Amino acid sequence: MAAPDHTGVPLLELRDVTKSFQAVRALRGVSLALRSGEVHALAGENGAGKSTVVRIIGGEHQPDSGDVLLDGEHVRFSSPREAQQRGVAVIHQEPIQFPDLSVAENVFMGRQPLRTGRRIDRKAMHRRASEVFDQLGVPIDPARQTRGLSIADQQIIEIAKALVADARIIVMDEPTAALSAVEAERLFRVARGLADRGAALLFISHRLDEMYTLCDRVTVLRDGAFVVTERMADIDNDTLVRRMVGRSVEQLFPKRDTEIGEEVLVVDGLTRAGVYRDISFSVRRGEIVGLAGLVGSGRSEVVRAVFGVDDRDSGTVTVDGKALPKGKPRNAIESGVALVPEDRREQGLVLELSIERNASLARLRQVSPGGLTRQSRERALAGTWGERLSLKFGSLSDPAATLSGGNQQKIVLGKWLATEPSVLIVDEPTRGIDIGAKVEVHALLSDLAAQGMAVLLISSELPEVLGMADRVLVMHEGRITAELSRDEADEESVMYAATGNGSAA
Ligand SMILES: Nc1ncnc2c1ncn2[C@@H]1O[C@H](COP(=O)(O)OP(=O)(O)OP(=O)(O)O)[C@@H](O)[C@H]1O
Ligand SMILES: [Mg+2]
Repeated sequence: MAAPDHTGVPLLELRDVTKSFQAVRALRGVSLALRSGEVHALAGENGAGKSTVVRIIGGEHQPDSGDVLLDGEHVRFSSPREAQQRGVAVIHQEPIQFPDLSVAENVFMGRQPLRTGRRIDRKAMHRRASEVFDQLGVPIDPARQTRGLSIADQQIIEIAKALVADARIIVMDEPTAALSAVEAERLFRVARGLADRGAALLFISHRLDEMYTLCDRVTVLRDGAFVVTERMADIDNDTLVRRMVGRSVEQLFPKRDTEIGEEVLVVDGLTRAGVYRDISFSVRRGEIVGLAGLVGSGRSEVVRAVFGVDDRDSGTVTVDGKALPKGKPRNAIESGVALVPEDRREQGLVLELSIERNASLARLRQVSPGGLTRQSRERALAGTWGERLSLKFGSLSDPAATLSGGNQQKIVLGKWLATEPSVLIVDEPTRGIDIGAKVEVHALLSDLAAQGMAVLLISSELPEVLGMADRVLVMHEGRITAELSRDEADEESVMYAATGNGSAA
């Protein structure tokens, strides 16, 4: 790769690009220049058009009008393959790899070094893969099977793939959403290294702190339109938010004080061998209990077992004094428990069904008293929650697949909130959701608690836990290592327990 060049012709440029999907104008007049040596942030609310820009750069979509320039020359990528061949690599949030193949085979997929007689040169492949991982500073064994690697490692494999393909333009669409803080830091180090060696990176995240840590410049989109490109050093936090949202926004919504009533959810001695051990806690009416801890500490596994989608070895779960049998989510739902899962795309949405059908799936009983689904009723429900969470869509009868990532998240959230449960368990409720809607989600959770709901909130964002929770439980390696009151909980005390330094609660 050439040395970084901050001044010359951009490696890749979009000029006045427009793109519509039927009635939805996803992009109108978007311009963006990616220079060698820079990490460039693309910021905007859910549905602003960020992923559409990514798909155009990656050759998945073609612009309706406007220009794409590569090294100053007009290009038109008619397929992802063509974009790849011209040096563009898109790293997806959850990469798709072949689990049965080795790491090296995945890295060299489609471009294996051949020996004479066109046999794959396995040795050369492993050697080259090792070199690339060394260069990235990440120790992954090229010979191991890909199955079982973390999402963070799978992303590194995608980056290695980009390197062996000599990609100069590397696009990352919300790569940190499923990463722990440590993994995100490692990714930033790798990203910075690529830029320093002359690549141009485009980086998307809903977390402003990440943009400030990693990026040199930012381009803001609002409603599909270009707003501004600025150096990160020249734009402060509040101004950036105002550019994205079009108004100023409080970035945190503190929970209101509510009257905390009797215990609703009681979990006692929950254990699953090798995953979590002896988990006991309760959540009271009107209370928000935060479940903090590092990604992988067992939080999601615990709440999945509480809800009954996963099995457990021992321990009891009671709701309003009534025991829930293990492994039966239907019983949990009937007892008034709702779980908004972490992985909403996979577990929460039926992508080919319409937006309104998805929004009403969880409360089909209310929607259809006589067994018939009434479209007008569905439409009203979806409309109410859609408005509150500022859902952006073309038509409610469009398939959920046409929604932007963050808007898909909002549908799942809205659908479970609409069941009016007595116990609401939310796993990373604001992941992938933009800053304006995030405040709205916090206000909603606070309202629901004030109405007497018992809320269990898993979040990896410390400010969210500290701002919202009346009480904080901290997990580390499958155990609860601390229980902190709202007053005791601060960044330090939670991190201390999350890294295994607490005494068992
Ligand atoms: N295939 C499609 N069909 C119809 N509409 C689409 C399609 N893809 C995107 N859209 C619409 O285009 C707009 C921009 O979507 P895009 O995915 O680019 O947003 P985004 O900025 O990435 O949002 P998020 O932060 O939620 O990921 C949205 O209104 C979305 O519903
Ligand atoms: Mg997106």
